[in-house]
Amino acid sequence: MTAKIIDGRSLAAAMRKGFAERVAALKEHSVTPGLAVLLIGDDPASAVYVGRKVKACEAVGIKSFAQHLPESISNAELLGRIVELNANPEVHGILVQLPLPPQIDMAQVLETIAVEKDVDGFHLYNVGGLVTGNTVFSPCTPFGVVKLLEHENIPIEGQNVVIVGASNIVGKPMALMLMARDATVSICHAKTRDLAQFTILADILIVAAGVPNLIVPQMVKHGAVVIDVGINRLADGSIAGDVDFEGVSKKASAITPVPGGVGPMTVTMLLENTIKSAEHKAIFEGLELA
Ligand code: GUN
Repeated sequence: MTAKIIDGRSLAAAMRKGFAERVAALKEHSVTPGLAVLLIGDDPASAVYVGRKVKACEAVGIKSFAQHLPESISNAELLGRIVELNANPEVHGILVQLPLPPQIDMAQVLETIAVEKDVDGFHLYNVGGLVTGNTVFSPCTPFGVVKLLEHENIPIEGQNVVIVGASNIVGKPMALMLMARDATVSICHAKTRDLAQFTILADILIVAAGVPNLIVPQMVKHGAVVIDVGINRLADGSIAGDVDFEGVSKKASAITPVPGGVGPMTVTMLLENTIKSAEHKAIFEGLELA
């Protein structure tokens, strides 16, 4: 079997065309969706991700408010910036790029972002909404994975889904989103013994561990769908996922490449959440959108 390659770039491009139309409809009512992106410190990977987010905003007509703050910023100063952005009517979404320097209390930062501007979906209220099925904003990476599965017409209900990686950003929300769609979900993590005995059962295997080549063909069931969320920079400077793409694509029925799979969808879902936030506010304020 040779796996179908799931093309995240092409779905992302198609979705972004639709976004440009939604932004144009808002602009007809003098509303420009705005996204504030806060980058703290000089982590090169975070700088690349933030740069991509800002560029993607501009391409669909979202106004970005980027703030590059020093590594040494105090917790109080950062909270103050967020409080200002909460009150700014031009800002519909606030994203604080993670990870944060050690002097910053991440939980406090995420809880300070106004729920209705929490386009990353990391505020406790939105996390709780995922648990109960009353989500306001879904976290962007798992949201992008769901969109890819839906677009490829991959059934979720009743399927065995195994997720490798239990982070708050990907693994845990991913599990909740697929449970809400009636999948049977298992989560594995760094302390899981004999990972292969779980992964081999997966109809859909989602890997977000940050370990290059963690998943080799012997760990994958014939015909499984394999979603690789990993983004690892190798010693030679190239980017690789967590899955041995060459080997596993001979066994899987469908697989996402890295780059070009989940990555473009993460940014796309951030745009979706930001536009949705602006639309909700506009409708709440009585505008009738086309
Ligand atoms: N760092 C890695 N992924 C993410 C993400 O989705 N959002 C934020 N804010 N920071 C991240």
